[in-house]
Amino acid sequence: MKEETMSTVRTEQIGDVLLIEINNPPINAGSLTVRQGLTAAIQQLQAQADLVAGVIIGGGTTFVAGSDLREFGQPLQDPQMPAVIALIEACSKPVVAALHGAALGGGLELALACDARIALAGTLLGLPEVTLGIIPGAGGTQRLPRRVGVARAIEMICSGERITADKALALRLIDEVVAGDLQAHAMALARRLAGRKCRIRDEQVPTEDAAAIEQAEQTALRAGKRRPAVLAAIAAVKNAARLPIDEGLAQERAVFQQLRVSTEAYALRHQFFAEREAAKLPAALQAAPRPVQTVAVIGAGTMGAGIAICALDAGLNVILLEQDDVALQRGQQRVAEHYQSRVAAGKVKAAVAAASQARLSPTTDWVQLGRADLVIEAVFEDMPVKQDVFRKIDAHARSGAVLATNTSYLDVDAIAQLTARPQDVLGLHFFSPANVMKLLEVVRGERTAADVVATGMALGKKLKKLPVLCGNAFGFIGNCIYNAYRKQCEFMLEDGAWPEAVDQALTDLGFAMGPFAVADLSGLDIAWRMRKAQAASRDPRERYVGILDQLCEQGRLGRKTGAGYYRYPDGKQVKATDAIVRAIIEQASSQRGITRRTLDATEIQRRALLAMVNEAALLLAEGVASRPSDIDVVLVQGYGFPRWEGGPVFWARQQDPAQLAQDLQRLAGESGHGFVVADLSVLLNP
Ligand code: NAI
Repeated sequence: MKEETMSTVRTEQIGDVLLIEINNPPINAGSLTVRQGLTAAIQQLQAQADLVAGVIIGGGTTFVAGSDLREFGQPLQDPQMPAVIALIEACSKPVVAALHGAALGGGLELALACDARIALAGTLLGLPEVTLGIIPGAGGTQRLPRRVGVARAIEMICSGERITADKALALRLIDEVVAGDLQAHAMALARRLAGRKCRIRDEQVPTEDAAAIEQAEQTALRAGKRRPAVLAAIAAVKNAARLPIDEGLAQERAVFQQLRVSTEAYALRHQFFAEREAAKLPAALQAAPRPVQTVAVIGAGTMGAGIAICALDAGLNVILLEQDDVALQRGQQRVAEHYQSRVAAGKVKAAVAAASQARLSPTTDWVQLGRADLVIEAVFEDMPVKQDVFRKIDAHARSGAVLATNTSYLDVDAIAQLTARPQDVLGLHFFSPANVMKLLEVVRGERTAADVVATGMALGKKLKKLPVLCGNAFGFIGNCIYNAYRKQCEFMLEDGAWPEAVDQALTDLGFAMGPFAVADLSGLDIAWRMRKAQAASRDPRERYVGILDQLCEQGRLGRKTGAGYYRYPDGKQVKATDAIVRAIIEQASSQRGITRRTLDATEIQRRALLAMVNEAALLLAEGVASRPSDIDVVLVQGYGFPRWEGGPVFWARQQDPAQLAQDLQRLAGESGHGFVVADLSVLLNP
């Protein structure tokens, strides 16, 4: 037995087979040293006469689960993955890929270059490059369709979908699903293949129905409209069926190199790193989190039920507390219906759903709170109600329990003061639907203890959320920036734009919906109530647009009443322009003495983005946000800001700073009294 360690790749001769093991934790990324190691290993396999085959396997918990994204922003160093793959294919001896954990991106491309693939059950396979603004660049677009067909390859590559080993077997992407000793199975297979090569490159793309391809293409385009990587991926996959493989590979690589340095790819990599960074607490706040096994959720409405579901899914015990039996039953019903629909859709096994629900203890008895390690309040957004609830929590929760509020706008410090233990209180601001949305704002009050903040962040990770630390400002990070954006969009209505134009410009930018369509969907009464509450403290010199108030006064509360900024003739989906709304807007303009003018899409987008950027800089200066990149995570994850635009901070950094400063001054003029111009250097040069 001969063993040799070369960088991150270890080779070991076992009889007449060369075992090639990749050890580059945590994900065995296909980085430079791995590519060098693989090159040397395949050269050894070719050169040594007593070797008949090779096996490539991942050490630790996974096969190659991706690439080192940091390499993508710089010139790539040789040997690059296509060269490694070419060596495997050119090697006269067969190579088996033994997969476990995940084979993603370059990892799956490496496996597709081998002569056979086996996987442990549960292994995930996929080509997620498009989600990072690029296309597979090491043959994925050419070899995958040779096995699964063009339509399925378009689907998989454009969505970045990860499939399990079972599905991969059904698609002929792998040759066998095995149980037990993966390495032993792979060695045996390698010996059986000795003397043969079975290269996917030599196979034909299966013939298939043109309509199926067309449909896959249309679905991918709908989901990824205006995304260059989606278009490029479709073209590359179709090449597989019409070009000799070497030409297809060359074209794929050229497009990959081009997209790698595109703004979209930079933006998506920025988001990727920003999300990882956001989960880390600043050094001054690092502390060991308090252990949490039982969570109490108070209020089983829209948010409470969703939060309870996340906690159950994460394996926690959940006490769900309501004010009376009727409300409690409604809440329980919400949770039960969620699991029923997940089981019916085949997303969750019935036994798993039953086990989750068995950990739920519904109650109206406050004494039960004594069992909780962490309490999350999700009752009505009304200070007197929250005051009453927090006094009860303080009376019943055990000493050392973490006490959280899910408030969207109320003052976390004022809530903390209601208890005898403000150090244990923080905000945990979930987004709706709470069991779907990944963002979680963890709000640190003035007196919140470091280990309580750490517990909030740890709980977020346990619930598979993206926790972002925020200070206790009105609207925290997300709603504060969104308010500034919405306000600016209202100014534009008075200046001359119609709601349709504003919404269209912002959906063109990539938002799923524009601000007025969003307002109609969530109901205008929420904002109306808040405006009324703030009326007394509002500076009368401030530019205040009263269009929303007038709509509400006329009973137009949005989709739920059949009308808001738009009319909904079918009750909900189809929106129509409404002459009444136009009259209200025109009247608002004339009352302010504004001669209405047309605002084009570029101006609308720029004003909306600048308003966000300005607010972001103010929040950073006040310490409400701890890092510029956190702002981008919040806006992308919680507010539909297009991920491939990177977020408002990323956008600002792409602009000419002098022009940005000039535009901001202009925006200040357009926004009138009360608009504070921020010093953008906090986010441009952190
Ligand atoms: P909801 O009205 O759907 O549910 C509130 C629940 O609290 C009701 O079931 C009610 O019976 C219960 N409740 C009221 N007083 C209670 C008491 N004294 N003891 C026990 N239970 C009581 O409200 P929703 O939308 O779930 O909002 C809850 C909180 O979450 C609010 O603070 C809201 O601002 C916040 N929030 C809401 C979001 C949303 O999109 N709906 C998003 C993020 C936060």
